[in-house]
This record gives sequence, structure tokens and C-alpha cells, in this order.
Amino acid sequence: MDQAYLTLNNGAKIPQFGMGVYMVPEGEPTKQACLEALRLGYRHIDTAHAYQNERSVGAAVRESGIPREEIWVTSKLWPSEYGEGKTMAGIDKMLARLNIGYIDLLLLHQQVGDYMDAWKDMERAVSQGKVRAIGLSNFESGRLEEVCEAADIKPAVLQVECHPYFQQEALKQRVAPYGTAIESWYPLGHGDPGLIQQPIFTELAKKYGKTNVQIILRWHIQAGNIIFPKSTNPAHIRDNFDIFDFALSDAEMQEIRKLDSGKRFYVSTLEEQEKNFAAWSPAD
Ligand SMILES: NC(=O)c1ccc[n+]([C@@H]2O[C@H](COP(=O)([O-])OP(=O)(O)OC[C@H]3O[C@@H](n4cnc5c(N)ncnc54)[C@H](OP(=O)(O)O)[C@@H]3O)[C@@H](O)[C@H]2O)c1
Repeated sequence: MDQAYLTLNNGAKIPQFGMGVYMVPEGEPTKQACLEALRLGYRHIDTAHAYQNERSVGAAVRESGIPREEIWVTSKLWPSEYGEGKTMAGIDKMLARLNIGYIDLLLLHQQVGDYMDAWKDMERAVSQGKVRAIGLSNFESGRLEEVCEAADIKPAVLQVECHPYFQQEALKQRVAPYGTAIESWYPLGHGDPGLIQQPIFTELAKKYGKTNVQIILRWHIQAGNIIFPKSTNPAHIRDNFDIFDFALSDAEMQEIRKLDSGKRFYVSTLEEQEKNFAAWSPAD
């Protein structure tokens, strides 16, 4: 199956489709899901220090037998690791956990803490060859522009909740001046049946001989979003990638556009984020 690639604002080519491993336990569950995905042709894995499964992602990459440079690995730093010097130490520990030589894309996971000094360390890590590209996750307040304006290296991506109910059109306008690509988390609404079973998806699934989930994932691809749906079910892992042999028409994309109701599955204020994310730090 053909993979789709996007060119980021630093010239790197990122596979537009991959596998997310949020809430997949460290050890065999993460390793086997990643190995199965890589065997099928996936070339992109999205993890985070907070997911506590980077060692298993790294093991899968090494054991896959696929040349390292063909696989894109993203990970994320938690706010407990933000700060001058502290962030570089966090990156070095991440490199040791992953044990795959370098990190393709490193994100600040949350918009709280000493994110400005963290960004400077991330820029240094790029110049030192530890990391290829850097970006942000969950920066939707004015802190997004604060980082973007001050940055020497503009964020390559912004990873946020994005799905047909919450299409992030306004945010896409905000990051356009920086050439930042949007990565969708909860691309399937975290598996929400109400979203997946929307009649428009059922109708299009019938027309194209696909599943409702495949229609949603295809919509993301054509909307220009980078996606990494999570699954530990081998049949889902296979089906989710089988979306590169058909295309939705402009009219069908417009129909799906109408589902953009502003409904988020994860809601929290900046104040709640400040309080909750500072109260926890992932184990090394
Ligand atoms: N930056 C952030 O703060 C943040 C937050 C959340 C997520 N993320 C990233 O985004 C990734 C995706 O988000 P997510 O895992 O929360 O949600 P998601 O990908 O929208 O949905 C995952 C759910 O959908 C189910 N599913 C997957 N394929 C399916 C299929 N073909 N048919 C039916 N059900 C299917 C999965 O169950 P099965 O396993 O049974 O298939 C799982 O329950 C994460 O893994 C993570 O990498 C980032």
C-alpha cells in the first residue's frame, strides 16, 4: 500500500499516517502492536515519555529489520522536564530509553511549566543531531504564539485533539504563518461509537466498500492532518492503513465538514492544566 508523506517546515518528510500507542502497556502489548504495524507498512510511531512505553517502541523499531531512517518516531517531554539544562537531560534520558540513535520529532507535551526554556534546549538538541524536528502538543492558548514568535526554529507540528466533530480550522489559520502542520490526536474520537456511526460515514463506507473508520481516516488524510490511530487489534491495525486506494470527492469532504460542531472529547481549562500536570511526573 502506498504511504502518504508531508514535507514539514524544516524540509523533513513525515509519513502522514502512523500508529499511536497512548494507553498501550509497556512490554509485549506495545512491542507487538508496533511490530505488526511496521510489518504491514506503517513507518511512523507516536509515543511520549508520559505513556511509559518508549522502551518497547524502541525495541520494535530495532527488531523490525527496517532501516532506521525509514521509520519516523515521535516522542514528547512532560512539563516536569521543562527548563534550561533540565530539558537537555530529559532528552538524553529519552534517547537512552528509545535506544534508536535519534528522535525524529520531539514535542512539548503540554502548554504549562517552563516551556520557553525547554524550547531553547530542544533547539540545541536539533543542532546537536539528537533530534530532527521539534514541535508542540496541546498549545492552544496564547502560549502557542508566544513560543512561535520567540522560536529560532518554528514548530514543525502542533499535535491537538482533531476529528470530524472538532476540525480545528481556526487553529490551522493561527499556525499557517509558521508553516506548522497539524497532527490529530483522538482521530477517531478515542473510538467513540457515536462519531464512528455517523450516517454520512455509513453511507460513504457503503459507496467505497470501506468501513466507517476508514472513511474517517481518509477524511483526515485529505484534510491534510497527520494521524496515528491507536489500535492493539491486528484486524484494526491492518484496516486502518488500507485507506490509500480511494479518495473522497470535494462534495463528500464538504459534507463531513458539516459535522464540525465544536464537540471535544477532552475538555480542560488552562488553570486545570497548570494544576494537574504539575502534580505528576513520569518515571525515568
Ligand atoms: N498529545 C496528546 O496529548 C495526545 C492525547 C491523546 C492521544 N494522543 C496520540 O494520538 C493517538 C491516537 O489517539 P487515541 O489512541 O487516544 O484515540 P483514537 O486513535 O482516536 O482511538 C483509539 C480507539 O479506537 C479503536 N479503534 C482503532 N481502530 C479501530 C477500528 N478500525 N475499528 C474500530 N475501533 C478502532 C481502538 O480500539 P482497539 O485497540 O481495540 O482497536 C481504541 O479504542 C494516541 O495513541 C497518541 O499517540 C496524543
